[in-house]
Amino acid sequence: MKLLLENIKELVQVEEVPVQFKSGKQMAQLNTVKDAFLIIRDELIQDFGPMSKLKDVYKDDDFLIEIDCSNRLVYPSYCDSHTHLVYPAPREKEFVDRIQGLSYEEIARKGGGILNSAKLLHNTPDEKLYYSAMERIFEMIKTGTGAIEIKSGYGLNTKDEIRMLKIIKWIKETAPVCVRSTFLGAHSIPEQYKNNVSAYVDLVVNEMIPQVAAEELADFIDVFCDKGFFSVEDTERILMAGLKYGLRPKLHANELGLTGGVQTGVKYNALSVDHLEFMGPDEIESLKNTGTMPTILPGAAFFLGMKLSPVREMIEAGLPVALASDFNPGSSPSGNMNFISSLGCINYKMLPEEVINATTINTAYAMGISDRLGSIARGKTANLFITSEMPGIEYLPYSFGSNLVETVILNGEVQSF
Ligand code: NIG
Ligand code: FE
Repeated sequence: MKLLLENIKELVQVEEVPVQFKSGKQMAQLNTVKDAFLIIRDELIQDFGPMSKLKDVYKDDDFLIEIDCSNRLVYPSYCDSHTHLVYPAPREKEFVDRIQGLSYEEIARKGGGILNSAKLLHNTPDEKLYYSAMERIFEMIKTGTGAIEIKSGYGLNTKDEIRMLKIIKWIKETAPVCVRSTFLGAHSIPEQYKNNVSAYVDLVVNEMIPQVAAEELADFIDVFCDKGFFSVEDTERILMAGLKYGLRPKLHANELGLTGGVQTGVKYNALSVDHLEFMGPDEIESLKNTGTMPTILPGAAFFLGMKLSPVREMIEAGLPVALASDFNPGSSPSGNMNFISSLGCINYKMLPEEVINATTINTAYAMGISDRLGSIARGKTANLFITSEMPGIEYLPYSFGSNLVETVILNGEVQSF
């Protein structure tokens, strides 16, 4: 199977020499080829370059499919490195509670929030969870996403956490996107452990983690390390237990306070620390020259009206920054990475080039797949999208609320919807 995309107005995020991620000043650098071609062989990117080279080198080649991309741009698919998209039902009633003045923490305290989703999930059959998640995934595919990390965390007991991870595995085996799964047993404190958090941590450490590892159900481990949820001590116990089984951390940290979550993530070599609304100089310093990707979730900050992460300060300090959707029913009921890109520019004052790096190569790194996704490079998996007619890269985040993704190619195959 050989596919040719020709007359591409601009081929975006190309790499001659692939990098793992981009940081600091490099984030504003984006390599593109104008008037370009791209050749896909089977599921991989075989070659790309200027149209003039196509005519010289490939003049006698036969292509099974040729797509004329005149006036259109081609991007690598978004990688969404943080979602909770397996859930039983939306929570729009809480949305109204918040409009009327309750905070996210107050809603959680009165048994809403994550605990509400866990109660519902317990009574929802696997098939229903799987099919509703797949619907969300197809919606994301239509808006340009080609790789998704999915967390458990609405089980909060061994049986339901394992069930969630098995549903994520089922999705991994059947969805056309690349999926990575994260065990988030420590997402919230179940009601019966309210006054004995360490007993719940015992359960996560002694029962859940060994079973998750024995059945090879997770790529990563996560903890909601924050004010009112799990302390640094709880988090360390869980991360140490996970590391025994080779589970690398990806932490929820510093959404609700300066609680030491970021430093804990760095200490345990987390692949990413996510949220980061509360960032002081120590947090920024601790992330320098590490393998931990600071990940911002602009949808959650927007939806909950939270303070914004100091993204400009972080980039100016030389850090990399990734942007993910946090798709979940409570704090970010959308997996639309085009909208996340617009929020990156509008709310965080990121340049369009920075946003593209933050949603492709940096999120690919944050899910451990930047060697095969996250950019247009020879030998990488051909997950990409063709836009509708548009003038240039600025136009996509500028057009917030529109979907300019016209054609999606995943694993070298044109998707039809
Ligand atoms: O990333 N902060 C913790 N967890 C999720 C919210 C999950 C929910 O409200 O259901 C988040 O925002
Ligand atoms: Fe989250």
